[in-house]
Amino acid sequence: TPSRKHSIACIPADGIGPEVISAGVAVLKELAALDGTFELIFTNYDWSSATYKKSGKYIPDGGLESLKKHDAILFGAVGAPDVPDHISLWGLRLAICQPLQQYANVRPTKIFRGTQSPLRATSAGDLDWVIIRENSEGEYAGQGGRSHVGQPWETATEVSIFTRHAVTRLLEFAFEMARKRPKKHIIVVTKSNAQRNGMVMWDEIASSVAKRFPDVTVEKMLVDAMTCRMVLQPSSIDTIVATNLHADILSDLAAALAGSIGIAPTSNLDPTRQNPSMFEPIHGSAFDITGKGIANPVGTFWTAAELLKWLGEEEAAANMMECVENVCEAGILTRDLGGKAETKEVTEAVIAELRRSY
Ligand code: NAI
Ligand code: MG
Repeated sequence: TPSRKHSIACIPADGIGPEVISAGVAVLKELAALDGTFELIFTNYDWSSATYKKSGKYIPDGGLESLKKHDAILFGAVGAPDVPDHISLWGLRLAICQPLQQYANVRPTKIFRGTQSPLRATSAGDLDWVIIRENSEGEYAGQGGRSHVGQPWETATEVSIFTRHAVTRLLEFAFEMARKRPKKHIIVVTKSNAQRNGMVMWDEIASSVAKRFPDVTVEKMLVDAMTCRMVLQPSSIDTIVATNLHADILSDLAAALAGSIGIAPTSNLDPTRQNPSMFEPIHGSAFDITGKGIANPVGTFWTAAELLKWLGEEEAAANMMECVENVCEAGILTRDLGGKAETKEVTEAVIAELRRSY
Protein backbone atom coordinates (compact mmCIF):
# COMPACT_ATOMS: atom_id res chain seq x y z
CA THR A 1 0.00 0.00 0.00
CA PRO A 2 1.20 3.52 -0.82
CA SER A 3 2.94 5.21 2.10
CA ARG A 4 2.61 8.80 0.86
CA LYS A 5 -0.53 10.65 -0.23
CA HIS A 6 -0.66 13.85 -2.24
CA SER A 7 -3.82 15.83 -2.85
CA ILE A 8 -3.88 17.67 -6.18
CA ALA A 9 -6.34 20.33 -7.30
CA CYS A 10 -6.88 20.36 -11.08
CA ILE A 11 -8.04 23.53 -12.83
CA PRO A 12 -8.12 22.70 -16.55
CA ALA A 13 -9.98 25.97 -17.42
CA ASP A 14 -10.08 27.07 -21.07
CA GLY A 15 -9.26 26.11 -24.66
CA ILE A 16 -6.81 23.22 -24.90
CA GLY A 17 -6.41 23.33 -21.08
CA PRO A 18 -8.91 20.47 -20.49
CA GLU A 19 -7.32 18.40 -23.32
CA VAL A 20 -3.79 18.58 -21.98
CA ILE A 21 -4.76 18.32 -18.31
CA SER A 22 -6.74 15.12 -18.87
CA ALA A 23 -3.68 13.70 -20.68
CA GLY A 24 -1.48 14.76 -17.76
CA VAL A 25 -3.80 13.24 -15.17
CA ALA A 26 -3.96 9.95 -17.09
CA VAL A 27 -0.16 9.73 -17.14
CA LEU A 28 0.15 10.70 -13.45
CA LYS A 29 -2.43 8.06 -12.43
CA GLU A 30 -0.58 5.38 -14.36
CA LEU A 31 2.75 6.45 -12.90
CA ALA A 32 1.43 6.38 -9.30
CA ALA A 33 -0.14 2.96 -9.84
CA LEU A 34 3.10 1.54 -11.31
CA ASP A 35 5.31 3.09 -8.65
CA GLY A 36 3.09 1.99 -5.78
CA THR A 37 4.85 3.98 -3.06
CA PHE A 38 2.66 7.09 -3.32
CA GLU A 39 -0.97 7.89 -4.01
CA LEU A 40 -2.36 10.89 -5.89
CA ILE A 41 -5.84 12.17 -5.09
CA PHE A 42 -7.28 14.50 -7.73
CA THR A 43 -10.02 17.08 -7.19
CA ASN A 44 -11.37 18.87 -10.23
CA TYR A 45 -12.34 22.56 -10.17
CA ASP A 46 -14.37 23.65 -13.20
CA TRP A 47 -13.37 27.33 -12.96
CA SER A 48 -13.12 28.81 -16.45
CA SER A 49 -14.19 31.59 -18.76
CA ALA A 50 -17.47 29.69 -19.26
CA THR A 51 -18.27 29.81 -15.54
CA TYR A 52 -17.19 33.47 -15.50
CA LYS A 53 -19.66 34.31 -18.28
CA LYS A 54 -22.45 32.65 -16.30
CA SER A 55 -21.65 33.91 -12.78
CA GLY A 56 -19.42 36.96 -13.24
CA LYS A 57 -16.66 35.23 -11.23
CA TYR A 58 -13.76 33.00 -12.14
CA ILE A 59 -13.26 31.87 -8.56
CA PRO A 60 -16.43 31.30 -6.54
CA ASP A 61 -16.70 32.51 -2.94
CA GLY A 62 -14.53 30.37 -0.68
CA GLY A 63 -12.67 28.97 -3.70
CA LEU A 64 -9.21 30.05 -2.59
CA GLU A 65 -9.79 28.54 0.84
CA SER A 66 -10.59 25.15 -0.69
CA LEU A 67 -7.55 25.37 -2.98
CA LYS A 68 -5.34 25.91 0.06
CA LYS A 69 -6.29 22.46 1.39
CA HIS A 70 -4.45 20.70 -1.44
CA ASP A 71 -0.74 19.91 -1.67
CA ALA A 72 -0.41 21.25 -5.21
CA ILE A 73 -2.42 22.73 -8.08
CA LEU A 74 -2.30 21.53 -11.70
CA PHE A 75 -3.48 24.34 -13.98
CA GLY A 76 -4.32 24.25 -17.71
CA ALA A 77 -4.70 27.65 -19.38
CA VAL A 78 -7.09 30.56 -19.13
CA GLY A 79 -8.30 32.83 -21.92
CA ALA A 80 -11.31 32.87 -24.23
CA PRO A 81 -11.91 34.70 -27.51
CA ASP A 82 -14.87 36.63 -26.07
CA VAL A 83 -13.32 37.68 -22.73
CA PRO A 84 -10.60 40.37 -22.69
CA ASP A 85 -7.26 38.75 -21.79
CA HIS A 86 -6.59 41.10 -18.88
CA ILE A 87 -9.91 40.04 -17.31
CA SER A 88 -9.24 36.30 -17.64
CA LEU A 89 -5.61 36.50 -16.53
CA TRP A 90 -6.34 38.65 -13.48
CA GLY A 91 -9.60 36.78 -12.77
CA LEU A 92 -8.08 33.33 -12.48
CA ARG A 93 -4.33 32.87 -12.79
CA LEU A 94 -3.06 35.96 -11.03
CA ALA A 95 -5.97 35.68 -8.57
CA ILE A 96 -4.35 32.42 -7.41
CA CYS A 97 -0.61 33.25 -7.71
CA GLN A 98 -0.72 36.54 -5.82
CA PRO A 99 -2.80 35.66 -2.70
CA LEU A 100 -1.07 32.26 -2.40
CA GLN A 101 2.29 34.10 -2.52
CA GLN A 102 3.67 31.91 -5.27
CA TYR A 103 6.47 34.39 -5.67
CA ALA A 104 8.94 32.29 -7.60
CA ASN A 105 8.06 31.30 -11.14
CA VAL A 106 10.40 28.63 -12.46
CA ARG A 107 10.64 27.86 -16.18
CA PRO A 108 13.04 25.16 -17.31
CA THR A 109 13.72 24.72 -21.03
CA LYS A 110 15.69 22.15 -22.92
CA ILE A 111 15.83 20.46 -26.29
CA PHE A 112 14.42 16.95 -26.04
CA ARG A 113 16.12 14.05 -27.76
CA GLY A 114 14.35 13.53 -31.09
CA THR A 115 13.24 17.16 -31.44
CA GLN A 116 14.81 20.07 -33.24
CA SER A 117 15.64 23.60 -32.30
CA PRO A 118 15.00 26.29 -34.92
CA LEU A 119 18.61 27.31 -34.24
CA ARG A 120 20.91 25.76 -36.82
CA ALA A 121 23.74 23.78 -35.16
CA THR A 122 22.01 23.65 -31.78
CA SER A 123 20.91 20.25 -30.59
CA ALA A 124 19.89 18.37 -27.44
CA GLY A 125 22.43 19.15 -24.71
CA ASP A 126 23.36 22.60 -26.10
CA LEU A 127 20.34 24.28 -24.57
CA ASP A 128 19.42 23.43 -20.98
CA TRP A 129 18.26 26.50 -19.09
CA VAL A 130 16.12 27.47 -16.15
CA ILE A 131 14.56 30.91 -16.01
CA ILE A 132 13.42 32.24 -12.63
CA ARG A 133 10.81 34.94 -12.81
CA GLU A 134 9.65 37.27 -10.04
CA ASN A 135 5.97 36.38 -9.74
CA SER A 136 4.44 38.67 -7.14
CA GLU A 137 5.05 42.31 -8.09
CA GLY A 138 7.17 44.28 -10.56
CA GLU A 139 5.50 45.33 -13.78
CA TYR A 140 2.47 43.10 -13.04
CA ALA A 141 1.73 44.52 -9.59
CA GLY A 142 -1.51 45.99 -10.87
CA GLN A 143 -0.68 49.57 -9.85
CA GLY A 144 -1.91 52.31 -12.12
CA GLY A 145 -5.07 53.79 -13.51
CA ARG A 146 -6.82 55.54 -16.35
CA SER A 147 -8.23 59.04 -16.32
CA HIS A 148 -10.31 60.91 -18.93
CA VAL A 149 -11.20 57.63 -20.64
CA GLY A 150 -11.96 58.10 -24.33
CA GLN A 151 -10.82 61.73 -24.44
CA PRO A 152 -7.90 62.79 -26.62
CA TRP A 153 -6.11 63.65 -23.35
CA GLU A 154 -6.79 60.24 -21.82
CA THR A 155 -3.95 59.28 -19.47
CA ALA A 156 -2.94 55.83 -18.29
CA THR A 157 -0.24 54.75 -15.86
CA GLU A 158 1.22 51.28 -15.37
CA VAL A 159 3.50 51.51 -12.37
CA SER A 160 6.13 48.88 -11.61
CA ILE A 161 6.60 48.03 -7.95
CA PHE A 162 9.92 46.68 -6.73
CA THR A 163 10.32 46.03 -3.02
CA ARG A 164 13.54 45.06 -1.28
CA HIS A 165 11.62 42.27 0.46
CA ALA A 166 10.32 40.62 -2.73
CA VAL A 167 13.47 41.14 -4.80
CA THR A 168 15.68 39.72 -2.04
CA ARG A 169 13.60 36.58 -1.47
CA LEU A 170 13.41 35.91 -5.21
CA LEU A 171 17.15 36.39 -5.79
CA GLU A 172 17.94 34.14 -2.83
CA PHE A 173 15.68 31.47 -4.30
CA ALA A 174 17.33 31.85 -7.73
CA PHE A 175 20.86 31.57 -6.33
CA GLU A 176 19.84 28.46 -4.36
CA MET A 177 18.52 26.94 -7.58
CA ALA A 178 21.68 27.86 -9.55
CA ARG A 179 23.78 26.26 -6.81
CA LYS A 180 21.95 22.95 -7.25
CA ARG A 181 22.63 22.82 -11.00
CA PRO A 182 25.88 21.34 -12.34
CA LYS A 183 27.18 24.58 -13.89
CA LYS A 184 26.48 26.76 -10.81
CA HIS A 185 26.16 29.77 -13.09
CA ILE A 186 23.55 32.53 -12.95
CA ILE A 187 22.82 35.54 -15.14
CA VAL A 188 21.00 38.41 -13.40
CA VAL A 189 19.00 40.19 -16.09
CA THR A 190 17.81 43.78 -15.64
CA LYS A 191 17.53 46.99 -17.63
CA SER A 192 19.40 49.17 -15.20
CA ASN A 193 20.75 51.55 -17.82
CA ALA A 194 17.31 52.90 -18.79
CA GLN A 195 15.27 52.04 -15.68
CA ARG A 196 17.39 53.73 -13.11
CA ASN A 197 15.43 53.11 -9.89
CA GLY A 198 13.92 49.66 -9.49
CA MET A 199 16.44 47.96 -11.76
CA VAL A 200 19.42 49.57 -10.05
CA MET A 201 18.04 48.31 -6.74
CA TRP A 202 17.84 44.80 -8.28
CA ASP A 203 21.49 45.00 -9.29
CA GLU A 204 22.50 46.15 -5.80
CA ILE A 205 20.53 43.40 -4.06
CA ALA A 206 21.95 40.83 -6.51
CA SER A 207 25.52 41.84 -5.62
CA SER A 208 24.85 41.48 -1.92
CA VAL A 209 23.07 38.12 -2.27
CA ALA A 210 25.91 36.92 -4.54
CA LYS A 211 28.39 37.40 -1.67
CA ARG A 212 26.57 34.66 0.25
CA PHE A 213 26.93 32.25 -2.71
CA PRO A 214 30.67 32.29 -3.43
CA ASP A 215 30.38 28.95 -5.27
CA VAL A 216 27.96 30.40 -7.85
CA THR A 217 29.38 32.35 -10.82
CA VAL A 218 27.37 35.51 -11.46
CA GLU A 219 27.01 37.57 -14.60
CA LYS A 220 24.89 40.68 -15.14
CA MET A 221 23.16 41.39 -18.44
CA LEU A 222 20.68 43.86 -19.87
CA VAL A 223 17.51 42.24 -21.11
CA ASP A 224 17.89 43.35 -24.74
CA ALA A 225 21.42 41.96 -24.97
CA MET A 226 20.15 38.78 -23.29
CA THR A 227 17.81 38.03 -26.21
CA CYS A 228 20.83 38.07 -28.57
CA ARG A 229 22.86 35.82 -26.30
CA MET A 230 20.00 33.30 -26.08
CA VAL A 231 19.94 33.03 -29.86
CA LEU A 232 23.68 33.25 -30.56
CA GLN A 233 25.33 31.47 -27.61
CA PRO A 234 22.73 29.17 -26.07
CA SER A 235 25.28 26.85 -24.49
CA SER A 236 26.81 29.74 -22.49
CA ILE A 237 23.62 30.01 -20.40
CA ASP A 238 22.41 28.02 -17.40
CA THR A 239 20.24 29.85 -14.82
CA ILE A 240 18.62 33.21 -15.58
CA VAL A 241 16.81 35.42 -13.06
CA ALA A 242 14.71 38.42 -14.09
CA THR A 243 11.66 40.54 -13.33
CA ASN A 244 8.06 39.51 -13.92
CA LEU A 245 7.83 41.17 -17.37
CA HIS A 246 11.35 40.52 -18.60
CA ALA A 247 11.30 36.85 -17.65
CA ASP A 248 7.81 36.42 -19.12
CA ILE A 249 9.15 37.46 -22.52
CA LEU A 250 12.52 35.68 -22.24
CA SER A 251 10.82 32.42 -21.30
CA ASP A 252 8.55 32.42 -24.36
CA LEU A 253 11.65 33.00 -26.48
CA ALA A 254 13.36 30.17 -24.63
CA ALA A 255 10.46 27.80 -25.34
CA ALA A 256 10.47 28.67 -29.03
CA LEU A 257 14.26 28.19 -29.25
CA ALA A 258 13.89 24.77 -27.70
CA GLY A 259 11.50 23.77 -30.49
CA SER A 260 7.94 24.57 -29.42
CA ILE A 261 5.85 26.40 -26.86
CA GLY A 262 4.05 23.06 -26.45
CA ILE A 263 6.89 21.49 -24.42
CA ALA A 264 7.77 23.82 -21.59
CA PRO A 265 6.39 23.88 -18.03
CA THR A 266 6.03 26.61 -15.42
CA SER A 267 6.01 26.25 -11.66
CA ASN A 268 4.52 28.99 -9.52
CA LEU A 269 6.16 28.24 -6.19
CA ASP A 270 5.63 29.38 -2.64
CA PRO A 271 9.11 28.41 -1.45
CA THR A 272 7.99 28.83 2.20
CA ARG A 273 5.49 25.98 1.56
CA GLN A 274 2.80 27.77 3.56
CA ASN A 275 0.55 27.56 0.49
CA PRO A 276 0.23 24.99 -2.28
CA SER A 277 2.29 25.74 -5.39
CA MET A 278 0.77 25.79 -8.86
CA PHE A 279 2.09 23.99 -11.93
CA GLU A 280 1.06 24.69 -15.54
CA PRO A 281 2.32 24.33 -19.09
CA ILE A 282 3.77 27.61 -20.37
CA HIS A 283 1.37 27.84 -23.32
CA GLY A 284 -2.05 29.48 -23.37
CA SER A 285 -5.47 28.22 -24.36
CA ALA A 286 -4.62 28.04 -28.11
CA PHE A 287 -8.06 28.74 -29.61
CA ASP A 288 -6.77 27.92 -33.09
CA ILE A 289 -6.35 24.22 -32.23
CA THR A 290 -8.94 23.76 -29.45
CA GLY A 291 -11.11 20.66 -29.82
CA LYS A 292 -9.01 19.21 -32.64
CA GLY A 293 -7.20 16.67 -30.48
CA ILE A 294 -3.78 17.83 -31.71
CA ALA A 295 -2.49 19.83 -28.72
CA ASN A 296 0.96 18.78 -27.60
CA PRO A 297 0.58 17.21 -24.12
CA VAL A 298 4.36 17.14 -23.49
CA GLY A 299 4.32 20.56 -21.77
CA THR A 300 1.79 19.16 -19.32
CA PHE A 301 3.79 15.94 -18.80
CA TRP A 302 6.88 17.98 -17.94
CA THR A 303 4.64 20.16 -15.72
CA ALA A 304 3.41 17.03 -13.95
CA ALA A 305 7.02 15.91 -13.40
CA GLU A 306 7.88 19.29 -11.86
CA LEU A 307 4.83 18.95 -9.58
CA LEU A 308 5.99 15.51 -8.43
CA LYS A 309 9.51 16.80 -7.77
CA TRP A 310 8.11 19.59 -5.58
CA LEU A 311 6.13 16.99 -3.60
CA GLY A 312 9.29 14.96 -3.04
CA GLU A 313 8.67 12.25 -5.65
CA GLU A 314 11.98 12.87 -7.41
CA GLU A 315 12.49 9.35 -8.66
CA ALA A 316 9.05 9.02 -10.24
CA ALA A 317 9.48 12.45 -11.82
CA ALA A 318 12.83 11.54 -13.37
CA ASN A 319 11.40 8.29 -14.65
CA MET A 320 8.49 10.07 -16.28
CA MET A 321 10.78 12.58 -18.02
CA GLU A 322 12.91 9.76 -19.35
CA CYS A 323 9.80 8.07 -20.80
CA VAL A 324 8.56 11.31 -22.38
CA GLU A 325 11.94 11.86 -24.02
CA ASN A 326 12.03 8.28 -25.26
CA VAL A 327 8.65 8.81 -26.92
CA CYS A 328 9.93 11.99 -28.61
CA GLU A 329 13.05 10.16 -29.73
CA ALA A 330 10.86 7.43 -31.24
CA GLY A 331 9.33 10.15 -33.45
CA ILE A 332 5.88 10.17 -31.84
CA LEU A 333 5.50 13.94 -32.07
CA THR A 334 2.60 16.37 -32.46
CA ARG A 335 2.44 18.82 -35.36
CA ASP A 336 4.05 21.73 -33.51
CA LEU A 337 7.18 19.53 -33.33
CA GLY A 338 6.96 18.54 -36.98
CA GLY A 339 5.20 15.19 -36.41
CA LYS A 340 1.71 13.88 -37.17
CA ALA A 341 0.67 12.31 -33.87
CA GLU A 342 -2.42 13.44 -31.99
CA THR A 343 -2.64 14.20 -28.26
CA LYS A 344 -4.09 10.75 -27.60
CA GLU A 345 -1.32 8.85 -29.41
CA VAL A 346 1.43 10.71 -27.58
CA THR A 347 -0.33 10.11 -24.25
CA GLU A 348 -0.80 6.40 -24.93
CA ALA A 349 2.83 6.08 -26.06
CA VAL A 350 4.05 7.67 -22.80
CA ILE A 351 1.82 5.33 -20.76
CA ALA A 352 3.13 2.32 -22.70
CA GLU A 353 6.72 3.49 -22.15
CA LEU A 354 6.04 3.89 -18.41
CA ARG A 355 4.72 0.32 -18.25
CA ARG A 356 7.87 -0.92 -19.97
CA SER A 357 10.09 0.99 -17.55
CA TYR A 358 8.66 -0.46 -14.31
P1 NAI B 1 -1.02 30.27 -26.99
O1 NAI B 1 0.10 29.73 -26.21
O2 NAI B 1 -2.38 29.86 -26.58
O3 NAI B 1 -0.81 29.91 -28.52
C1 NAI B 1 0.27 30.38 -29.31
C2 NAI B 1 0.49 29.44 -30.50
O4 NAI B 1 1.10 28.23 -30.04
C3 NAI B 1 -0.80 29.02 -31.20
O5 NAI B 1 -0.58 28.91 -32.58
C4 NAI B 1 -1.09 27.66 -30.61
O6 NAI B 1 -1.82 26.80 -31.45
C5 NAI B 1 0.30 27.11 -30.34
N1 NAI B 1 0.28 26.21 -29.17
C6 NAI B 1 0.15 26.58 -27.87
N2 NAI B 1 0.15 25.50 -27.09
C7 NAI B 1 0.27 24.42 -27.88
C8 NAI B 1 0.32 23.02 -27.66
N3 NAI B 1 0.24 22.48 -26.42
N4 NAI B 1 0.43 22.20 -28.73
C9 NAI B 1 0.51 22.69 -29.97
N5 NAI B 1 0.48 24.02 -30.25
C10 NAI B 1 0.36 24.87 -29.22
O7 NAI B 1 -0.90 31.86 -26.92
P2 NAI B 1 -1.89 33.00 -27.48
O8 NAI B 1 -2.48 32.56 -28.78
O9 NAI B 1 -1.14 34.25 -27.41
O10 NAI B 1 -3.04 33.11 -26.40
C11 NAI B 1 -4.29 32.44 -26.47
C12 NAI B 1 -5.04 32.68 -25.16
O11 NAI B 1 -4.35 32.06 -24.10
C13 NAI B 1 -5.18 34.15 -24.78
O12 NAI B 1 -6.45 34.34 -24.22
C14 NAI B 1 -4.10 34.35 -23.73
O13 NAI B 1 -4.40 35.38 -22.84
C15 NAI B 1 -4.13 33.00 -23.05
N6 NAI B 1 -2.87 32.66 -22.38
C16 NAI B 1 -2.98 32.08 -21.15
C17 NAI B 1 -1.87 31.67 -20.46
C18 NAI B 1 -2.06 31.00 -19.15
O14 NAI B 1 -3.14 30.59 -18.82
N7 NAI B 1 -1.03 30.85 -18.36
C19 NAI B 1 -0.52 31.87 -21.00
C20 NAI B 1 -0.50 32.45 -22.33
C21 NAI B 1 -1.64 32.84 -22.98
MG1 MG C 1 3.82 34.50 -21.12
